[in-house]
Amino acid sequence: MCGIVAYIGHRQAYPVIVKGLKRLEYRGYDSAGVALLNHGVKLYKKKGKVAALEETTLGKDLDGHIGIGHTRWATHGEPSDRNAHPHLSANGKLAMIHNGIIENYALLKQELIKKGYRFHSDTDTEVLLNFIEDIQENNGSTLEEALRIALKRVVGAYVIVLIDKDNPDTLIAARKGSPLVIGIGKGEHFLASDASPIVEYTKEVVYVNDYEIAIIKPDELILKNLGNERQTPFIQKLDLELAAIEKGGYDHFMLKEIFEQPSTIYDCLRGRLDVIQGTITMSGIRNNMDKIKNANRILIVACGTSWHAGLIAEYVIEELCRIPVEVEYASEFRYRNPIIHKGDMIIAISQSGETADTLVALENAKEQGAVILGVVNVVGSSIARLSHAGAYTHAGPEIGVASTKAFTAQLTVLTMVALMIAKERNTITRDRYLHLLNELNEVPEKVKKALEAAEHIQKLALKYKDVSDALYLGRGYNFPVALEGALKLKEISYIHAEGYPAAEMKHGPIALVDESLPVVFVATRDTYHEKIISNIQEIKARKGKVIAVITEGDEIITAMADDVLPVPEADELIAPIISTIPLQLLSYYIGVAKGYDVDKPRNLAKSVTVE
Ligand code: F6R
Repeated sequence: MCGIVAYIGHRQAYPVIVKGLKRLEYRGYDSAGVALLNHGVKLYKKKGKVAALEETTLGKDLDGHIGIGHTRWATHGEPSDRNAHPHLSANGKLAMIHNGIIENYALLKQELIKKGYRFHSDTDTEVLLNFIEDIQENNGSTLEEALRIALKRVVGAYVIVLIDKDNPDTLIAARKGSPLVIGIGKGEHFLASDASPIVEYTKEVVYVNDYEIAIIKPDELILKNLGNERQTPFIQKLDLELAAIEKGGYDHFMLKEIFEQPSTIYDCLRGRLDVIQGTITMSGIRNNMDKIKNANRILIVACGTSWHAGLIAEYVIEELCRIPVEVEYASEFRYRNPIIHKGDMIIAISQSGETADTLVALENAKEQGAVILGVVNVVGSSIARLSHAGAYTHAGPEIGVASTKAFTAQLTVLTMVALMIAKERNTITRDRYLHLLNELNEVPEKVKKALEAAEHIQKLALKYKDVSDALYLGRGYNFPVALEGALKLKEISYIHAEGYPAAEMKHGPIALVDESLPVVFVATRDTYHEKIISNIQEIKARKGKVIAVITEGDEIITAMADDVLPVPEADELIAPIISTIPLQLLSYYIGVAKGYDVDKPRNLAKSVTVE
């Protein structure tokens, strides 16, 4: 949440920062701003997207080789020009950007008001900035010292970057709980919330750790902890290509990412699944297999779409490995004093690897002795680094705010993890194991086939775009797919949608059914097929409109439903990876037909780094 970019070096800072902010808009787009240092601080900020900021700066003085920029997802204070970052300190010397939340800002604000400070925004950021300025002025400290003192009193999460009129060759940054990457160039440094603004300039990066302060000059990067001890920067090579973060001819990132799924799933399987040898190799899992296979219980912790992947994993792991599984919303889990035993294993699922609730839930569980296994997409992210073991999903950067390719990659990895554990525990027959390996191997082709229905789904979207509500139903492995389908529709088209286990609809939601309510059934051929056919009949009997995701050639449901979305046949355990595809496309095309910005749906942000 909130994207930050900063630059120091020989280039003009403004174009680097604005281009970077556009890449980070998925993190928030309520307002954007830039501060440049050149004989004083030049500050430009505007409510709305980065494009609005660009309009504001047309014809203005944008000269400067050091600068900071921000794209905001509002927490404290409505989206507005005055709440936009960067903020200026009272004496006008410091400018700061911030991603995160300062939880004790109200207390600090009161202290500052008593000292005569006046505030020009409603943000916690301006409070922290003036708190730093106040320490600097009262103690006669350097900015670095003042920052260290201030951060020891701050409760919350932050990445902050400061520029100082009196030190025009230095950027100062600090991190706790929110991500910060520093790109190292020749005589220049780039700072950003993720690597996407950096990749076209350098592939050498340092991921700043919690409680570290970075003092950055064009030719020098110094890292210190809050105790003022030097830390050695660990320079890593970025494994990211520029093409991966561009739209590549598609109208939206979301559509590009939906269509990338045959190759992202293939990348996820590549080098791991070997159908000829009958093996799955994931070293992060293999090296920790003793702990994993002997787990008494598995707790899956995640949020949103990743939580839906967790629900499917629950069904798969219990079925294949016979280990009890519980799936937890990270935001609930972290606060409800959960019981965690020594032999428990936690599987953390996160695309970004930065979701604040998931991160803190894991920190708590780790302290209580749980083994953490991360299923994460963003390499080097906080959750990946906190995990004892893990497997990356290798879906590449997901920029559309609604998660698509990360979800199917999560399901692919989780199925492989379950198969590895089941084999070790001898809870799966050789035949079933080999059958599922083959099924997994065929997923990229089947997803490709499912995507061929895009044009048909686009037409269907026009038929249903004006509905006000929708119900999504599924049973067994397809129940969480129904939840995910409903979430996608809500996010992208702002249509109220609910997902339910199909049988459960008789306990309430069926009251909503009339001729205006579309009911989307995820009804591929599986153990529950006859039961879901009965559920479809129940909806039809009440004049509901039925849209059904079916297995190709299912004539029974085709004859009953108003519209069908056929997908290739697959084992029921693998089917969710494929039956999700038409639901992603349906939401996408409805969102587009309604004229919405599907890559940046209102009020949402990709990486939820505030709780
Ligand atoms: C929905 C979506 C969100 C995320 C959730 C968790 O399309 O993208 O619900 O799934 O915010 O994010 P990660 O997986 O990054 O922890």
